[in-house]
Amino acid sequence: DLSPIEEGQSITVMWRGKPVFIRHRTEKEVAEAKAVDVKSLRDPQSDAERTKEGHEKWLVMVGICTHLGCVPLGQKNTDVRGDYDGWFCPCHGSHYDSAGRIRKGPAPKNLLVPDYAFINETTIRIG
Ligand code: FES
Repeated sequence: DLSPIEEGQSITVMWRGKPVFIRHRTEKEVAEAKAVDVKSLRDPQSDAERTKEGHEKWLVMVGICTHLGCVPLGQKNTDVRGDYDGWFCPCHGSHYDSAGRIRKGPAPKNLLVPDYAFINETTIRIG
């Protein structure tokens, strides 16, 4: 249920034993994610490929760093969020942007977007 998540807030849910990050992105975060030149990315994916059309403010992804499997910081508003306004994995310093794409540090891949679908305006089903 997405309805309690205010803009600029994130929640973490468990799915198949893994943390899933759900973020209600701010307009600034969405704009930053869309402004990136996809060709410049290590794991090139557009923001549109990582979100659902018409629901671009919602970002849903497995919260496990693609380097060695730590859970990155950035879910709490008091967390360090790295250089790209997203998530930061402190173990070896991987920085993810506001679309969860790897931008700096050793992680090879973007944070994984799982299969999910909107079943109405405020509810998603993951998997
Ligand atoms: Fe994230 Fe190493 S597990 S930087």
